[in-house]
Formats: sequence, structure tokens, C-alpha cells
Amino acid sequence: DSVVVSGIQPSGRLHIGNYFGALRQHLDLHTQHEAYYFIVNYHALTSLHDADKMRQYTMDVALDYLALGFDPDEAALFVQSDVPEVTELAWIFYNLMPVSRLERGVSYKEKVSQGLNPNAGLLNYPVLQAADILIYGGTQVPVGADQKQHIEITRDLAQRFNNTFCPDDDPLFTLPEPYILDDVSVVPGIDGQKMSKSYGNTIGIFDEGKALKKKVMSIVTDSTPLDEPKDPEQCNVFALIKLFAEAEQRAEIAEQYRAGGYGYGHAKKELLGLIQDFFAEARERRHELEQRPDYVRDVLRDGAKRARQKTEPLMAQVRNATGLMKTM
Ligand code: TYM
Repeated sequence: DSVVVSGIQPSGRLHIGNYFGALRQHLDLHTQHEAYYFIVNYHALTSLHDADKMRQYTMDVALDYLALGFDPDEAALFVQSDVPEVTELAWIFYNLMPVSRLERGVSYKEKVSQGLNPNAGLLNYPVLQAADILIYGGTQVPVGADQKQHIEITRDLAQRFNNTFCPDDDPLFTLPEPYILDDVSVVPGIDGQKMSKSYGNTIGIFDEGKALKKKVMSIVTDSTPLDEPKDPEQCNVFALIKLFAEAEQRAEIAEQYRAGGYGYGHAKKELLGLIQDFFAEARERRHELEQRPDYVRDVLRDGAKRARQKTEPLMAQVRNATGLMKTM
């Protein structure tokens, strides 16, 4: 049976790359499978050192999930630090992971190449992520393409643990599979690069009014004159239109691009309307939920309880397999 697991960092407001690359799949899958979705505040701590922001962003992610259709009766949504077994398991995994492998990690390498001096948390980030996934017996991990390497490290760690501590016929950990949808695996930002908080090129799921308009209007396009035909597949605006428009409308807009006389300004207006409509209902629901912080906390608490029903027995097996004594 599938167990779906995934995490999102509370490191700022979620954007449409998070939505199409991951969140939408989380929502599609959570009613059909056992699912665990966590707000990874320990991961965010590798770069966010501001308690008020950490609290705010954590609530924001929970609000986003609920507003976009997460049903707490169907699956568990919780805060990573409410499940202490995860960091316990991560420590055990550290001792199976060569530092050299972690030094090849994409985000770690990127920081080093920028001349920064990354903290030990960032180096070990993928190990904590492996603990996140394996502790629930995750089999499917819906994520964007940027997480592929982390899933590979997770599979590697599961295998190392099984080989080291489990008899051949009784492995403790299942090797998870990434669940990555090709069309949305890399959602571009307003400059055409991958949409990412760290590039400052995002469009927020719940951006509205002038702020939203300003972002859409600043999407980078080439300088093909208005009258001339344009290739929709080369256009950053169309790349986003594709995500929001139904097949028929998408084809119509593509045709207008190719015919000429259709400018990037027209396309941006079209996109703005599409975004507004697409999230209209969720936006309203979010405003309502913002008035009910106690309800949101209850959801997170219940989710953590459900999660721990899974992690406590698993950790007993891990302690047993590794010889870590438990006297109380
Ligand atoms: P995070 O918080 O950076 O992003 C959350 C999810 O959004 C996806 N995503 C994108 N997908 C397509 N196009 C984009 N432009 C784009 N930007 C972000 C990410 O791939 C991700 O799925 N390391 C993870 C968090 C994590 C995790 C886990 C995920 C911690 N533990 C366990 C899965 C399982 C991260 O930084 O995601």
C-alpha cells in the first residue's frame, strides 16, 4: 500500500511553483492514500533565524493547505518539530552517511560556490529529509524536480541502514519513489529561471490586487513587436498560462501567439485574470481561516498525534536494531 509523504519549508509565503510542483499533488493524493504532510521548521532553521517569522510562516503554510482544500479528516498535516523521533532518527542516519556524499549536495554546493560558509545544518539537511520520509514508511514522495537528489540520498540511506542493521529477509525501511509530474516539475518564475524564494522571482499563491498585477506585468519577455507572430513555447508568460488554462483555452491562446497581432501585454492580462479566478475560492477561504487560529492549531496537533502513532513504534524497532538501550 502507498504511503504518501512530503514536506514544505516555512521560509516565506508559498508560491505557484510550490503549488503546481508539489502542493496540488499533495491535495490530489491525500484523499486516496495514507498521507503525512509536514511543515519542516527544522529544515527552515538552516536559513531562517527569526522566531516571529518562523511562527508566522509556519501558520501561513498550514493556512495555505487548509484554504487550498486539505481535509484534516483524510490525512495528517503537522509541524515537523512536534515529532521528536524525526531528529532522533536523523542522528542515527548521520552515522551512516559519508561527509563526502553530503558535500556533493546541490544546495550545499551552490552556497559554497557563492563563497558562503554554510552551517552544519545545511550540510546535513538531506539526512534530516531522509528521516522525514523513512520514519513514516513513505513509498511515494510528491515533490518538484529540485528534490530528486534528496530522494536518491533517502533511498541510499534506507539501503545503508537495512544492510548494516537488518537481516537480509527483514529490512526495516522501504525505498521510496519520487512522484514528480513532468509538466510541472520546474515552474518558471517571472525571470524565466526556476521559481524560487531565494531568487526573488516568485508569484505568491495568495498574492492579490496591485502586488499580483505588478508581478505578472514584470514577467520577462523578448522584444518581438506586437504584430509579429510569436512562439508560445519560448515565452515565460505562456509557460504560466499553460498551468492555469484549460486545454481548449490554452490552444486558443497559443494560436493567437502564432497569428501575430497579439502582444505580451495581452498575454499578461489573460494570465492575471486566470490566476485571480483559479485561486478565488481558496483566497476567500483563507481569509475566513485567518480568523480561526485555534482551529488551525487543533488541526496541527491532531496531525502530530497521528504522526507519532507511526513514529513511536518505528523508533522502538530502530533502537532495537541498533542496540540503543531504552531503560524507561
Ligand atoms: P521547499 O519548501 O523548497 O518546496 C516545497 C515543494 O515545492 C517544490 N517546488 C517547485 N516545484 C516546481 N517548480 C518550482 N519552481 C518549485 N519550487 C519549489 C519543491 O520541489 C518541493 O516539493 N527539501 C524540501 C522540503 C522537505 C521535504 C521533506 C520534501 C523536507 N523534508 C520530505 C519531501 C519529503 C524543500 O526544501 O521544499
